[in-house]
Amino acid sequence: MPDTWSPTSWRSKPIQQQPQYPDASALTQVEQTLAGYPPLVFAGEARELRRQFAEVTQGRAFLLQGGDCAESFAEFSAGKIRDTFKVLLQMAIVMTFAAGCPVVKVGRMAGQFAKPRSANDETLDGVTLPAYRGDIVNGIGFDAASRVPDPQRLLQAYHQSTATLNLLRAFAQGGFADLHQVHQWNLDFIANSALAEKYSQLAGRIDETLAFMRACGMDSSPQVRETSFFTAHEALLLNYEQAFVRQDSLTGRSYDCSAHMLWIGDRTRQLDGAHVEFLRGVENPIGVKVGPSMDADELIRLIDILNPNNDPGRLNLIVRMGADKVEAHFPRLLRKVQAEGRQVLWSCDPMHGNTIKASSGYKTRDFAQVLAEVKQFFQVHRSEGTVAGGIHIEMTGQNVTECIGGSRPITEAGLCDRYHTHCDPRLNADQSLELAFLIAETLKQARA
Ligand code: PEP
Ligand code: CO
Repeated sequence: MPDTWSPTSWRSKPIQQQPQYPDASALTQVEQTLAGYPPLVFAGEARELRRQFAEVTQGRAFLLQGGDCAESFAEFSAGKIRDTFKVLLQMAIVMTFAAGCPVVKVGRMAGQFAKPRSANDETLDGVTLPAYRGDIVNGIGFDAASRVPDPQRLLQAYHQSTATLNLLRAFAQGGFADLHQVHQWNLDFIANSALAEKYSQLAGRIDETLAFMRACGMDSSPQVRETSFFTAHEALLLNYEQAFVRQDSLTGRSYDCSAHMLWIGDRTRQLDGAHVEFLRGVENPIGVKVGPSMDADELIRLIDILNPNNDPGRLNLIVRMGADKVEAHFPRLLRKVQAEGRQVLWSCDPMHGNTIKASSGYKTRDFAQVLAEVKQFFQVHRSEGTVAGGIHIEMTGQNVTECIGGSRPITEAGLCDRYHTHCDPRLNADQSLELAFLIAETLKQARA
């Protein structure tokens, strides 16, 4: 691998999963416009996340990463952002309070638009059209005009991301995330369930703790009144990402300022490919999805390209095997990385290896399989004596019916009630909270 990285060096490498733009000059124009716009995040924030990632890698905090599979232009509202944020806050507080472990919160939000696809085309009733690749690329409607990649969509994705991030920052710092509001984070539709009761009890104990702190004059610290929240997305559409590369005025280093953290998907992690080339040169904390086809030696080579200094805050390996494949594939990779002394943040994506097709045709995931994968991930770490650092999930605060199972079970027949995702099926608030309680229990044992 040559040392000469530049924001454009990815362009001479083989690249997967890209749209074919009919008008190259229109795309270039948009790239130039974006490059002149203000970035979404500041390099110092990405550095801070890197510091927090190092804490996670060393077992002193836990990473919670979640949000939509694909954000969409159609479902863009304050209510939707607020509800996803609420569920993430609830999950984080359950883990922090029940397991006594600080939680680093990262949303798949404010930029999670571009999607890799298993096929380039989609055929319906004998008609074949280019696949939908996320709202930043083309439209989801099954007609020829919608499926043409349109560079103007990059601008719309940018504007939607800035508005989303603006609201998230306001929520995180403006009083909404104040621990005194812990009861308000409950969403109406999970009220009156066993899970809501469990959450209320925990919130009641937090109230008591805060009352005690107030009595001691300790409850007005920023840690109680506000929270930190970071954003991340798959760095798939490199024309977009390149436009946000900025040289940090403090360090002179390059950062991709479209989000705090970026990750490489399981389909675009080729050692000599464009995505690895692009991300190796930016200083953000980065992730790589690790699926069952990953070879152990290949993984070490990948780590060496992306994290040559073996920095514990740089690299998050997001393991997504599928509940029935964890045992066969995860231990061999974990042992190799341990034996070679590489420091990485291991997290578990229990979604992408567990996608199935319901008999009704809906793409879904069985919540039992999601839980099973998370449990196995923790078990493998326990038996190897390594750190299970975090969780990476597709979820929403909306009352959707996209994944089957859960404590208020969604059945295959019920999937059609509120199936709204633009790509993969997401956990709803109930299912997310149930998962959080399971992780809290497991963490408590693992870190006791
Ligand atoms: C995703 O996170 O939405 C995704 C496409 O994941 P993966 O690359 O692991 O398949
Ligand atoms: Co997905």
